Amino acid sequence: MLDKLIIELDKGLRTLCAPANSGRAHPDQDVAESDLSSAEKKHALGLMRVNHCGEVCAQALYQGQALTARDASARDALKQAALEEVEHLAWTERRIRELGGRPSLLNPLWYTGSLAMGVAAGVLGDKWNLGFLQETERQVGAHLDGHLRELPDGDARSRAIVAQMRDDELQHAEMAHELGAAELPGPLKAAMKLSAKLMTGSSYHL
Ligand SMILES: [Fe+2]
Ligand SMILES: [Fe+2]
Repeated sequence: MLDKLIIELDKGLRTLCAPANSGRAHPDQDVAESDLSSAEKKHALGLMRVNHCGEVCAQALYQGQALTARDASARDALKQAALEEVEHLAWTERRIRELGGRPSLLNPLWYTGSLAMGVAAGVLGDKWNLGFLQETERQVGAHLDGHLRELPDGDARSRAIVAQMRDDELQHAEMAHELGAAELPGPLKAAMKLSAKLMTGSSYHL
């Protein structure tokens, strides 16, 4: 357990400090950069910073789950999804730089909170662990759909990234469902939405 914890702590530091790498090609690789007004650029940057912060949180959630998942097949599926989350991190990170910004200063704070939530969900057992994951991915998928409506029409590069992430997140939710995720109680889902709102509201600006 101590070994596992040290490995996860190391991963956490890398998530926060080192650039992420993507095995798949970045979804915006072949999409031309468009001429955005400074207001459009600023808005796209804020939205992509929110998405990057969300991906930092995803790292922590999946790590918390890797530490606690009991079932081997669940552990393997979680690992694969976690790899895709690292790719999301790489895509959003690069897009933020292209838009002339930097990741959110609040990332360490949200990372720590998410890790604690991931571990707490894991302690309750695989069914609830997966239920928490399923609900998170569903909410993130819906949130990314919202960003596809909000992003400037001309920002085709950010759109390509967000669209692929949305598809991946919905597949992660499906994976959790197939592995036997429990349906979370309504008030818990509402609390999760509220904390996501706090995260998105703050990381857009900071
Ligand atoms: Fe993701
Ligand atoms: Fe995901």
